[in-house]
Amino acid sequence: MARPNAVFVCGSCGGETLKWQGQCPLCGEWNSLEQRSTARARPATPAAAVSLGARAGTDVAARFGSGHAELDRVLGGGVVPGSVILLGGDPGIGKSTLLLQVAAQVAAARGVLYASGEESVSQVSMRAQRLALSAAGLGVVAETDLASILALATERCAALLVIDSIQTVQAGAAGAGAGAVSQLRECTSALVRFAKASGTAVVIVGHVTKEGAIAGPRMLEHLVDTVLYFESEAGSRYRIVRATKNRFGAVNELGFFAMTAGGLKEVKNPAAIFLSRSAQPAAGSIVTVARDGGRPLLIELQALVDRMRFGAPRRIAQGLDANRLAMLLAVANRHAAVSLQEHDVFVNVVGGIQIGETASDLPVLIALASSLKARALPSELVAFGEIGLTGEVRPVAYGDERLREARAQGFRVAVVPKDNAPRKSPEGLTVLGVAGVAEALEAAFGAR
Ligand code: TYD
Ligand code: MG
Repeated sequence: MARPNAVFVCGSCGGETLKWQGQCPLCGEWNSLEQRSTARARPATPAAAVSLGARAGTDVAARFGSGHAELDRVLGGGVVPGSVILLGGDPGIGKSTLLLQVAAQVAAARGVLYASGEESVSQVSMRAQRLALSAAGLGVVAETDLASILALATERCAALLVIDSIQTVQAGAAGAGAGAVSQLRECTSALVRFAKASGTAVVIVGHVTKEGAIAGPRMLEHLVDTVLYFESEAGSRYRIVRATKNRFGAVNELGFFAMTAGGLKEVKNPAAIFLSRSAQPAAGSIVTVARDGGRPLLIELQALVDRMRFGAPRRIAQGLDANRLAMLLAVANRHAAVSLQEHDVFVNVVGGIQIGETASDLPVLIALASSLKARALPSELVAFGEIGLTGEVRPVAYGDERLREARAQGFRVAVVPKDNAPRKSPEGLTVLGVAGVAEALEAAFGAR
């Protein structure tokens, strides 16, 4: 079928229809359809293919540092020229602060333009002064018109362009107001074209809506090269940068920052930031060494089991997979004589973190037993390990690294899968290798 010459695009949802209507048939918004030509400009000269062999070695080492090792780590080793990075996060989490710091650092050696549609130049300047940034070479503009921003970036030969935020910029042609889905898409595509053509790295700030998607859309995610989320646990001063998509690096790295009065500071050794141990060991609490973002993290797990009052027993897991908890309860019952069929069970990962690996099986089981017996575990004990359906304790990856980190954080006893127990334990750490769940409980409660 021939493609029609024009379509009608909804300014609210971005959906397309072939004929004009008063109401968008897709999202129900009134008066939101705009006519858009579908004619594609044909390039004057056809593109030529380049053989990659001829380019080998010419593009390496082109990345530049953001001035923040934690951010470079998440990006896969620095900023790639001509790449487009989307930074999403809740309002107030520190996106503007981070990018202003990055912009000022990069500006020491390269051209940088920081375009803010949310703050005036004097507000940005006040913030830079408060953060004690030497921002002499940094270009700041309070502008929302995309064409003007791109013209300025070209004029400054910017190596880095920051758009804060995509919801405030407007491309003249798209018709709809700033922030509308069609505008977001139009502006982002224009920025991608600009980045690829000019070699300028572009960082786009996107606010996250309550649903958790970068507002308007996941659809921005597939347009850009890298998607970073800036996250924080409620009330915590720690901030985590996580890559959920990266064309130029791995997506499992995390970058850790702390929000201080002097801006965002990197956390070089984040292993223990989620650990706040009370002086008195309490029943049901245990520390595990999880691994997230390519690093070991010490995390406290808590379990509470309580005799069920009425109805069906409750099984609540915060930060852990509920199905995994159900499985552990069955294994505990069958293989460790820890029967919780008539108990409500609550398990919580302290700090609001999600643990997505099976290494938390063993500590959860020990914490459940500790709560049931009302017996506290020694405070210098850690545990990790996967549990199988026959009650066996299975090894997990990076056992040595976890043990080293536990020792470095001052723990003295580790209950771990037998196959993870090293021939020679780290100095000062007693490693108890166990093969089954009953043996694991004995080791944990016997350890003093
Ligand atoms: P901001 O970067 O404006 O957030 P976003 O751009 O993601 O909306 O961060 C604002 C918050 O950071 C604000 O609540 C105050 C806090 N903050 C500090 O604690 N210390 C600082 O030095 C700065 C600049 C901000
Ligand atoms: Mg901001």
